[in-house]
Amino acid sequence: MDYDIKDITLAEKGRLRIEWAEMSMPVLRMIRERFSNEKPLEGIKLSACLHVTTETAMLMRTLKAGGADLVLCASNPLSTQDDVAAALVADHEIPVYAIKGEDHKTYYSHILSALKHKPHLTMDDGADLVSSIHFIALEKWDDLEPSVAAWGKGLSQDERKQFLSQVLGGTEETTTGVIRLRSMEKDGVLQFPVISVNDANTKHLFDNRYGTGQSTIDGIIRATNRLLAGSTFVVSGYGWCGRGVAARAKGQGAHVIVCEVDPLRALEAVMDGYHVMPIEEAAPLGDFFCTLTGDINVIRAEHFLQMKDGAIICNSGHFDVELDLPGLKEHSVAQRPIREFVEEYTLENGHRVYLLGQGRLINLAAAEGHPSSVMDMSFANQALCAEYMTKNHERMERKVYRVPEEIDKEIARLKLESLGVQIDTLTEEQKTYLSSWHMGT
Ligand code: NAI
Repeated sequence: MDYDIKDITLAEKGRLRIEWAEMSMPVLRMIRERFSNEKPLEGIKLSACLHVTTETAMLMRTLKAGGADLVLCASNPLSTQDDVAAALVADHEIPVYAIKGEDHKTYYSHILSALKHKPHLTMDDGADLVSSIHFIALEKWDDLEPSVAAWGKGLSQDERKQFLSQVLGGTEETTTGVIRLRSMEKDGVLQFPVISVNDANTKHLFDNRYGTGQSTIDGIIRATNRLLAGSTFVVSGYGWCGRGVAARAKGQGAHVIVCEVDPLRALEAVMDGYHVMPIEEAAPLGDFFCTLTGDINVIRAEHFLQMKDGAIICNSGHFDVELDLPGLKEHSVAQRPIREFVEEYTLENGHRVYLLGQGRLINLAAAEGHPSSVMDMSFANQALCAEYMTKNHERMERKVYRVPEEIDKEIARLKLESLGVQIDTLTEEQKTYLSSWHMGT
């Protein structure tokens, strides 16, 4: 079996950590059991490009139990858990291509391995796999990493057509990936249907908010061991992720400042009790800065130069473009690693700014990503959407689809059941009342 991981002897540690995650993933366990009996993914070749974590291992086991022929590559150079990659190879015979800290070239050589699997289904977190397929299909060689471009060019026209036509569809995990896919749909270039798992209520309301909230603070604390209580914590972006981080930072006793560009979200932040101001005003006040916007150059050189000596900056949005790192380097006179995941930049004004996790998602770079319990729902969506796509692709167009409501509701029901929480049901009278316009005051 072909694979590329750091060290296969790490498998035992990975096995125990996967077992630990499994305990908190009852919904995925139920799906795995059904998949083992029904084999809904039999004959399906699936390439997954996801953060290689213990929870992803649980998803891979579920898909494999369903009959899928799988490969897994990393969706971020710094998020791979090498012991999990080893356990997936050694215990589950799933080819994994992922090494924590891999460089750009290796990252894309791993994506290339996922492409060479010639998938029927793709599963992305950030759309790097799907966009590579599209660049090949559209012969946009300049947009591809050279080794992937060379492979694509090496295929004949017929082989390229065949490669694309066998992709039935895909799924996308995160906000940034969905933004990329929607813009492909808008430009008329999307070549197959994709389900936006991120849009499921059982995904973003929980994963983005509570998962990113807890794990981002966890990453910052593990990287710095600094006290949040009494500090000033600046959150850029008050979307689902930003709301979670702001709430958890406040819970730790920080004074939270929110920076937003959307008036509605900014207003919500005001009424949730945060200070809201532009980044220009927040820059000199913050002890910690965290970006979660999905946008580019949110904190720039002019802001770094305003910061206090010792300010800590990090990102938990999908790509490492939210902090203007070239600008930071340009205005620095010295740079050194000071502890794991912390790089000290001495600016031309003498102030030191500390960059965490190279500006990559801090919750995955310095901590372990989202807790399993929340990924249980996100990955239940992934597994059920892979099944849905396999059954329904012929009726689907080249569009970005929301997760079907029945899947979303079923996952919420199963999660509640696993938590032992019961809820009320509507009486016949209430059903009639709620569906009629006859009864007023
Ligand atoms: P969202 O769309 O709900 O929120 C983003 C917010 O950022 C919006 O309110 C938008 O108005 C604001 N924004 C955009 N540009 C801005 C700027 N220049 N300054 C201030 N605010 C700005 O998105 P969501 O779901 O919160 O995701 C945010 C990012 O986090 C995405 O890149 C997503 O892929 C990523 N993500 C990361 C996770 C992790 O594990 N760290 C988990 C889930 C999502």
